[in-house]
Amino acid sequence: MGVKGKRVIVTGAAQGIGRAIAALLAEQGAALLLCDVNREKTEETAREIGAGGAICLACMADVTRPADADALVQDAVQRLGAVDVLVNNAGITRDNVLLRMKEDQWDQVMAVNLKGTFNCTRAAIRAMLRQKRGTVINIASITGLMGNAGQANYSASKAGVIGFTKAVAREYADRGITVNAVAPGFIQTAMTDAIPEKEREALINQIPLKRLGTPLDVARVVCFLASDEAAYITGQVIGVNGGLYM
Ligand code: NAI
Repeated sequence: MGVKGKRVIVTGAAQGIGRAIAALLAEQGAALLLCDVNREKTEETAREIGAGGAICLACMADVTRPADADALVQDAVQRLGAVDVLVNNAGITRDNVLLRMKEDQWDQVMAVNLKGTFNCTRAAIRAMLRQKRGTVINIASITGLMGNAGQANYSASKAGVIGFTKAVAREYADRGITVNAVAPGFIQTAMTDAIPEKEREALINQIPLKRLGTPLDVARVVCFLASDEAAYITGQVIGVNGGLYM
């Protein structure tokens, strides 16, 4: 049971939430392939996680490129033996109010957050169909559910990830594949370190549990969804947001 022996790909795993997900899965006995655009940092992260005794490999992949996504899955099949779980975690922000938003800011966010999720999921599901089982976990965001001023591009991309999750869950449920999304609220990472102190305090005040989340809060839910215990859960969006959105 649990995730012991499961072969897992985590995208955008060099740092932040992706790294925390990889570390917790490794601690619980999974074998991992980490990918990111940041080669050096991914290799360093994989070394550090692997030092605890787990199989933790690294590879360079830009999720916006379909060929990279296909190669990533092939790499996992060759080096780990199969892909039991894909965690689509790679994501970026390019914030601006709508009237100042550049086309490029819109396109970049869509390319990584939404198309990247499509590219990697399509590649992984091909492999999972052969195995007749598998699990995809997409990291969405609270902003995809409630919106956020200054993040029209990001909110739209994450709402897209949620629709994508439900459609793919319906398509492959009868083939033994589950697809779910985790929607974190505001989590303490490089992404939220960019929020000015005053704004951060105001934000914390609005959160019923009165704190930002930690990457570990998110990782615990991902670990559960990746486990055999979550076998009857598909097409769901699990919020990890301290009650900010109910
Ligand atoms: P982060 O910026 O610390 O880490 C994201 C990682 O993705 C980086 O290592 C980056 O190099 C990698 N990446 C970026 N573009 C890539 C590409 N094209 N191909 C492969 N890797 C790429 O961000 P954080 O905070 O750890 O976020 C992880 C996920 O959680 C993202 O999808 C984000 O949207 C989501 N999220 C984060 C929240 C937060 O408060 N930090 C809240 C809700 C969702």
